[in-house]
Formats: sequence, C-alpha cells, structure tokens
Amino acid sequence: MNKITSLTSEDLVAQNIATLKQLFPTIVKEGEIDFKELESLLKNDLVEGDEYYRFTWAGKSQARLEANKPSTATLRPDKESSKNWDTTKNIFIEGDNLEVLKLLQKSYANRIKMIYIDPPYNTGKDFVYMDNYADNLQNYLDITGQTDAQGKKTSTNTESDGRYHSNWLNMMYPRLRLARNLLTDDGVIFISIDDNEVHNLRKLCDEVFGEENFVECLKWKRKKQPSFLARHTAKVMEYVLIYAKSFNKLEKLSIEGTSDSTKKVVNLTNQYSERFFKKGVMVKSGGSGIIKKGKYQIKTMTVEYLDDVIYEEGFTTNDVSVFAQFSVSQEKIDNYIDEKLLFITINNGLRRDVSEEEIGKKKSITDLLLDWGDNQDSDNEMKEIFEEKYFDYTKPLKFMYNLSKSSDTENNIILDFFAGSGTTAHAVMQLNAEDGGNRKCISVQLPELTDESSEAFKAGYTNIAEITKERIRRAGEKIVNAEKENLQKAEAELSAENAKAIKDENLIEELASKIQNLKSKIQNLDIGFKAFKLDSSNIRPWDGNPENLEDQLFTYAENIKENRTEEDILFEVLLKYGLDLTVPIEEKAVAGKTVYNIGAGTMFICLADNITPEISEAIGQWKEELQPAISRVIFKDSGFATDKDKTNAVQILKRFGVEEANSI
Ligand SMILES: C[S@@+](CC[C@H](N)C(=O)[O-])C[C@H]1O[C@@H](n2cnc3c(N)ncnc32)[C@H](O)[C@@H]1O
Repeated sequence: MNKITSLTSEDLVAQNIATLKQLFPTIVKEGEIDFKELESLLKNDLVEGDEYYRFTWAGKSQARLEANKPSTATLRPDKESSKNWDTTKNIFIEGDNLEVLKLLQKSYANRIKMIYIDPPYNTGKDFVYMDNYADNLQNYLDITGQTDAQGKKTSTNTESDGRYHSNWLNMMYPRLRLARNLLTDDGVIFISIDDNEVHNLRKLCDEVFGEENFVECLKWKRKKQPSFLARHTAKVMEYVLIYAKSFNKLEKLSIEGTSDSTKKVVNLTNQYSERFFKKGVMVKSGGSGIIKKGKYQIKTMTVEYLDDVIYEEGFTTNDVSVFAQFSVSQEKIDNYIDEKLLFITINNGLRRDVSEEEIGKKKSITDLLLDWGDNQDSDNEMKEIFEEKYFDYTKPLKFMYNLSKSSDTENNIILDFFAGSGTTAHAVMQLNAEDGGNRKCISVQLPELTDESSEAFKAGYTNIAEITKERIRRAGEKIVNAEKENLQKAEAELSAENAKAIKDENLIEELASKIQNLKSKIQNLDIGFKAFKLDSSNIRPWDGNPENLEDQLFTYAENIKENRTEEDILFEVLLKYGLDLTVPIEEKAVAGKTVYNIGAGTMFICLADNITPEISEAIGQWKEELQPAISRVIFKDSGFATDKDKTNAVQILKRFGVEEANSI
C-alpha cells in the first residue's frame, strides 16, 4: 500500500511535462521544457538558432562574474585554536571557500603545487553551499549561525529543485576559476567526484583549465563490497579528475620514490675502497676554492680525499683519488662524472643527482586505483582518532597519502578547500614524517553546523570545522608518537648491541645514525597549524586596493572596527599586500608601543595611538640593521595626533631609505 504524502490537487503542468518526457526524453532540462529542442524534434527542417559547441547552464554568466568580484572579508587569526602558532607553516581556515579563495589570490597566486578537493557530489542528499551574490559574506555568517544563535542549516540541493545541476555548477565554477590562479605552472588539481556530476565536472574543468590540460579520470574502488540492494548495477567505484595547470609542465604522476632527487654513492654497509675522480665533479657550494686533502666526517660516514680538490665555477679542475665506503663501481663513477650527476655536498660528502633516464623509468600511477584504501578503512581511521565516527565522507588516509605523493610535492604547498575531516592535512604530515619532506598544507572548511542528533554534536563538535581542527591536532600527535616509539626502539637496540662482548661496529654506526635522524625528524616535523577565521574586514572603508593606501595617509577618522585586535589588522594587511600568512613576524616594544617586523624588514607595522618621532626613528634603525631589498611602513591613520606628526614620520623614514609609509 502506498502512503498518501500529499493532499493537494494534482500538478497538471508537471504531469504534462512527465508525459512529454516519456515521448522525448531530451527535451526536459532541469524540470523545464526546452522548446527549441522540442521544435527540432517535431520539424523536418533545421531549426534556426545559435547552434555551436558550448557548455552552459542557468546562472553561468553571473557565476563567472562572481569569481572576479573582490572580497570584502578578511581572515582573523585564531591563536587559541591553533597549534604551534609561532613555528608552523601549515594553515587552517574556517570559512566559505569562495571568499577564502578570493582572499588568498594575492598571497598565493602561482604558489600551490597541488590542490585536492572533495566537494559535495550533488547526490541530492548532501549539502551544497548556495552563494548569495548580493552579500556573500553576510550569507556566510547567516548560514553558519554567526549572526543569530540558530544558524540556518539550508536545505540540501535535491533533484526536484528546478536548478539541480545549475546550482551545483554555480557553486563549483567560480571556485575552480579562483583555484586555478593559485596553481604553480607545473601544478595539478585532483577532484573527487562520482556519477552524479562527473560528466558536468569534466566539461566545467575543460572550460576552466583547458581541454588540453586534462590528465586523467582515475577510477578509485571505494567499496570492498557492493550493496546488494542496488537497483540496476552495484557501484563500487568513484572518480578523481586530474587537470594540470599546464599539461606539458606537469611531471609524471608516480608514487615510486618521487622524493629522491639525489642518491647515495657511499653506504655504511660497504667496505672502504678507493675511486678515481677525474676532473669535472660538481661542487655544491659553487664558486671556486680548495677542499684540503684529508678525512671528512659526514654524520657517521667518513670520506677521505687523498689529494687536494681544486674547483672553479662549481666544478673540480684536477683529478682526485677518494677513499670511502663506495656503493658504486669505478665505471659508474666515470659515467656520473660524464653526465654531471656526481657532486661533492656542502659538507664535503658525496652524492649524485638522479638521471633523466631514471626519472623516466618511474612508473606512473595507473587510472585504476584498486588498493588505495576504501570507505571501510576511512571509517576505521576516524574511529581510531575519535573513538566514534564523527564524519561521514572521509577519504582513506592511503588514498590521500598516495595522491599527495604522486605529484612531487616534497617542498611545496598543498591546498584542500573542501577539507572535511582533514584527511589531506593528516596525509601530508604522515608523508613528511616518512620521507623527511617539507610539504605545507592549507585546509579550508566551512563551519557547517552538525546535526543536533549526531554523535559529533553530542561530543561537543557543533560544526565541522571543529572536527577538522581536532583531527589535525590528534593526527599530528599520533605521527610524532609513532616516531618517538621508533626512537625508543632504536635506542634500546643500540644499548643492547653496546652491551655485547663482541660488538657489530657496522650495526652500531647504523643505529647511531638512525637515532640521529629520528631525533632531528621529531624536532623538525611540522604538526601544527595557524588557524584563521573568515570575517568582515577590520577596516571600515577598505577598498581592497593597496595602491590607494598611499593617499590615505592624510585622511583622519578611526576607520578600524571596535573589538578588532592589532593582530587582526596585521593579517589583513598581509593579505592585501600579498604576503604569506606564515611569514615570520617579530615584535618589539618601542617607547611602550608594539612594532611588528614582517618578513625580516619587508614591512613594519605599528598600529598604536600617539605615534612619536621616536617610534619612526626606531623603525628606521631596525630597517638599517636588517637591510631588506624593499621596505614599507604601515601606521594606523588615527595613530597620529596631528598632521605635523604624520609629515614628520614620513620624513624620518625617508632618511632611512623607506619611501613607502602608509596608513590604514
Ligand atoms: C565530502 S566532504 C570532504 C571530505 C574530506 N575529503 C575528508 O576526507 O574528510 C566536503 C566538505 O566540504 C565542506 N564544504 C561544503 N561547502 C563548502 C564551502 N562553501 N566552503 C568550505 N567548505 C565547504 C563540507 O562542509 C564538507 O565538510
């Protein structure tokens, strides 16, 4: 028996549309009749019209415009939620990613090597964020409950919505356009998606990134077992679309030892032997000089040069004999020298660069990902971190780990602007721990409200951003603890070996070196993040254009909002001037006022009231000490008691070579 769900009269129009759709399935687009299409099906002649190849949907032009509109928002530092604020280079941003991507445009243009996103798939059940072009920031604050206690959990984008696909495309389009600007020329974007939108997403990306930059549509097996309740076919796969910023500049995607750009030629487990180095060996320190003949200790390895090594313009100019624990033959050494691969390291050790041929031999990832973890793994991983499963759409760690590894990101920034539970940040820390890489991760997540009946809410996570941050915190601790355990084991093994009557000296050296490496790894691992929150600008009439600041030096009025801290303003200035959010910031008290030195003298900021000539003098002197290539100084507009004080400040700073003094 069917349940009666509606007592209203029949919707005749809907019925007619359904009847027509049965006859002509192609004429119904998002619930509306495409009359041109209908006409073409009922006529034998050509229907006149604008017939050309294109991909469009309702609201496309507006969505494109939206990507170009400057943001009126800013990112406020949230030190309390952060971890290792002073040292970390990772970033977590709570906010709507459209506004956030706009704010990052200046500071991170062409700087992100890899972007991974896992947006809502438009399943009809997931939450698709609806932008409000009239006032996007207010819309964000309303949706996330930051304007009233309730918050507005907007309804999901359902298939019955007349703009089901258009809504989703309008959400994705401006974000992808902005994301593309952030990629380095050899950068790459990976986008997870399933059958609901894969066809549209591919066309959308063709338009945003260029068809020629399409790399692959990976098929990832996300389920071990299919659901036997499936109506027609039982799905176990979903997709990852890959686009390069520039197809020809993107390196091979491989998870095989991509982090090794150099290799050993000596090894602790080999016997000492002599090799002959003909001239032409690269010397990494560059320039000209002499490395005196003799023994050099590099960690636990010894390299003995039996002759003085003379070098000019970074290459040796004489033949030299070398005594070390070589792991390669004389013939190989000769080849490496011929191919300019062999080099003497800065501390006089020996290594070689990996050859083009070796790079070419690396196996690419295939388009079928069968053992990259699955949904069951990700559920277990979440439970391992949180005891309970607080989030439904988590990707498995192995999947994210492999993707991050595949694109040679070792010293680069990775961005995930649909961060969810923070799997990307977790995988990046894990990868760094394993290969000693220095990847940095920027995660962006909406403070999407959690359902009051959910386990997450009951445990105190009122929004998803809270879950993301806690996941990153806990994951970092887990990774460091695992390394500490490894260290303890190695130390125990070393003391056991030392206690033996007959010792294995090679093993002792190996363990000592392992311990040293583990200690420095634990010390250097970046498991922190600087947290920021999207909010309205700190400055009232900000026009978003730093060029216009100059003229503002002579404008009066307190234009900084109440309840905003000096640090809030500081970071807004960084964004407007295109400085990195993790740039080193030093602060000093001068005549009782705080002066911030940003990026070793690139910028000085003093936002105090009653600026005296003493402060300008001190800033000038600080600049002299640091000798930056360029330097600018920013004051608060109302920080000067009189016009004369402002003019004085400008004159004093000019004396120290600071040509740019601005006020906000
Ligand atoms: C499918 S989940 C990502 C899951 C993630 N890959 C993981 O492993 O946990 C998508 C996330 O994007 C977030 N999101 C949706 N719209 C957003 C927006 N406009 N800005 C920022 N985050 C958004 C959702 O809250 C959700 O947490």
